[in-house]
Parts: sequence; structure tokens; C-alpha cells
Amino acid sequence: MQRACVIGWPVEHSRSPLIHRYWLKQYGIDGAYEKEAVEPKDVARFLGSLAALGYAGANVTLPHKEAALRAAESADEAAVRIGAANTLWLDPDGTLHASNSDAYGFMTNLKAEAPDWNRGRRPVMVLGAGGAARAILHGLLDEGAARVLIANRTRDRAEELVQAFGPSVHVVDWEDRHRALAGCGLLVNATSLGMTGKENLEIDLKALPADAVVADIVYSPLETKLLVAARARGNQVVDGLGMLLHQAVPGFELWFGVRPEVTPALRAHVAAALGEK
Ligand code: ATR
Repeated sequence: MQRACVIGWPVEHSRSPLIHRYWLKQYGIDGAYEKEAVEPKDVARFLGSLAALGYAGANVTLPHKEAALRAAESADEAAVRIGAANTLWLDPDGTLHASNSDAYGFMTNLKAEAPDWNRGRRPVMVLGAGGAARAILHGLLDEGAARVLIANRTRDRAEELVQAFGPSVHVVDWEDRHRALAGCGLLVNATSLGMTGKENLEIDLKALPADAVVADIVYSPLETKLLVAARARGNQVVDGLGMLLHQAVPGFELWFGVRPEVTPALRAHVAAALGEK
């Protein structure tokens, strides 16, 4: 039996078991997917004993994504560029490999939901400069975004992204995020603002072209206030649940040998568990 897990601290809130267990059942695979609460001080030790614990690999959630990259013996380009790993697997020799499927998850979902997201190669506005923003930036630039504007409450963190990703990335002051939307073809919220229990994302969409796409990484609630406001003025919207589902695909294939499909039924299953229709 193949086994995988998600490690985090805390890990209780992770939705990954819901997704992977659904696929294990759907494909009739004799496997298991567990939650492992691992304290930050124990990450390296835990990952060093992954094989001994009987795991083929793991997903990694906060706050362990950077430590997971350091612990791995090899890493793919996305993980290196993003500076964090969310997917680990052991090869038959016992070598630990790191990958990051967040950019893949975001872009696969964006391309499925809004194939014209880069029409006219207009600027893209990304709100946030944390790990999620880094992954999204990597994905957008990799897929041909010509110019990405980053607005973050802490300007220094946005400046770091210019250093990491180069001259296609431009910093916008957090206070200027509203008017900088003029001419943009895509707006992405990569902050945690708007999530249940967090502050709301304050943004005036007036300057955003009516044919721009608006994407949110927040998936609880599924329909954030940002997406409600964007939809009301005619913008196409892409919610955060699709990214969550798609980022799970590469790990499942690595551990269990089947490339799983993201279907409306899976989406409904996870949405129901989130308390959404
Ligand atoms: P993750 O790795 O999941 O992206 P993170 O690194 O904590 O998480 O980043 C969270 C993002 O939300 C950051 O861009 C953060 O802005 P700062 O870099 O200034 O901390 C943003 N964020 C969180 N709370 C915010 C708030 N009240 N107002 C504006 N931005 C906020």
C-alpha cells in the first residue's frame, strides 16, 4: 500500500486529505493519505525519516514550505524559483525530491477558466508578496505575462520580488493599487485578505477594464467580496478553489501512479466540506 501525508503546523485545517482521499477512492487505489502535525523544530528530522515512516512522499503546508526545500536533495525549477516546496517524493533510491505545484495549480486553473487572460498582453496586477504571490508570479511570467505590477502592504517584500523575478515586475505602492488597475487585463488577490476571519480586501475596481479577469486565491468563502464586486461590474472571475484542486494533481500522480482529474464532482465534494453549495 502506498502512503502519503500532508505536514503542517497546524495541519488540522488542511483540505489536502479531502482531495487525495477522494481520488484514492475514485481510482480504486489501495493507498492512504494522512495528516501529520510537525513542529517547526522537527521538520528536518521528520522529512529525514519519511521512508522509515512508510511514506512515498508528502505535501507541505505552512510554515514548512521553505524548510522542505532545504531538506530535499534535489528540487525542480519551480521550487527553486519560488523558494519553497509544497510537494515532496522519494525515488526508489530513497532520494528526497522537492517540487512546487502552486504555480502549476494557479495557471492550470486560470487557463481553464479564462483562456484569454493574457489577451493583448496587458499588465497584470498582483496583490500580495508572500509565498502564494511568489508562486503566482513565477507562473504568470513563465506563461508569457509581459508586465506584472505588485502591490503589497509592506513595500520591501514587493521589492524583493523584483530582485528575484527581474525587470518585468514593477512595484506599486499599496495606496496606489486602485488607480494602477487602469489598463490591466488581470487582477489577482494573492493576500489572505477576504478570507473568513480575516480583514476584508479594500479595493476600488473603478479603473479596471470591464473585460479584465479577476482571480482570488482565497477559497473560503468561495465567492469573496472581491469576486462579488468584480462580477457585478461585468468582469470574469476565477475563484481560489480551482487552484487548490489543481495543485494537488502532480503529487497524487508521483505517489500513486495515476494522473487524477479535477472534475466538477471533486469540486462539489470539496466545496460542500467548506460549507459552500
Ligand atoms: P502566504 O505565504 O500564504 O502568501 P504570507 O507570507 O503571510 O502568506 O503573505 C500574506 C500576504 O497577505 C502578504 O502579502 C501580506 O502583506 P505583508 O507582506 O505586508 O504582511 C498580506 N496581508 C496580510 N494581512 C494584510 C492586511 N491587513 N493588509 C494588507 N495586506 C495584508
